[in-house]
Amino acid sequence: MIRKVLVSAALTGAMLTGIASYSMINAQENKIAAAKFNADGAVSIPQNWRQWVFIGTPLTPNALNDGKAPFPEFHNVYIEPSAFAHWKKTGKFANGTQIAKELVLIRQKDKDEMNKDGSTGEVSGVGYFQGKLTGLELTVKDTVRYPNEPGGWAYFSFGHSAPPYAKTAKAFPTDSCNACHEASAQDDFVFTQFYPVLRAVKPK
Ligand code: HEC
Repeated sequence: MIRKVLVSAALTGAMLTGIASYSMINAQENKIAAAKFNADGAVSIPQNWRQWVFIGTPLTPNALNDGKAPFPEFHNVYIEPSAFAHWKKTGKFANGTQIAKELVLIRQKDKDEMNKDGSTGEVSGVGYFQGKLTGLELTVKDTVRYPNEPGGWAYFSFGHSAPPYAKTAKAFPTDSCNACHEASAQDDFVFTQFYPVLRAVKPK
């Protein structure tokens, strides 16, 4: 009885602080670990995203993009583990899914050790190797919180520079991010064509 009262007090508290959708998502989707939002709708930077499930690393270097790739770095992409489990089981992204993309500069060396195309020679051969961390983006699928975003996917950036990253981020307007994902991503706004780890576990 006392426990019930405490639980309902905690729920009321959660609703007042603006994280009501957390419990709603949990109820709907078999416990997907949802993102945290503050009262003005900004999302908090995820904790420990580098311990989520790693799914792939696209790379679009400047040398192959007329010297001006929008994202010349490695893009290390991770999915939150409970969302990964749901994908593995169903082949769908649950409401509450979070996917993070951390940007990592190509490894730099002294000028005389760098090739013209930005590659470096290392013990394993000549190529592109990861250097410094340089930015973090996040996408969250939440059709309850974002009924007007196509697919319910909202997109965030915690900065495109070296850590420390911003602690919170506001969702971008639909046209800035969502539209390109809708047009070109293979699976529910997510670029699974570049994520072998997701493809490998998708139920047939
Ligand atoms: C011109 C197309 C385009 C636009 C615009 C775009 N993206 Fe993406 N995004 C991609 C591609 C392609 C990938 C696949 C991985 C990669 O190459 O980085 C991706 C992957 C991602 C991922 C990893 C999860 C996924 O869906 O594959 C996140 C997070 C992300 N983008 C955030 C953003 C944010 C934030 C914005 C807006 C500021 C944005 N994107 C705008 C093309 C785009």
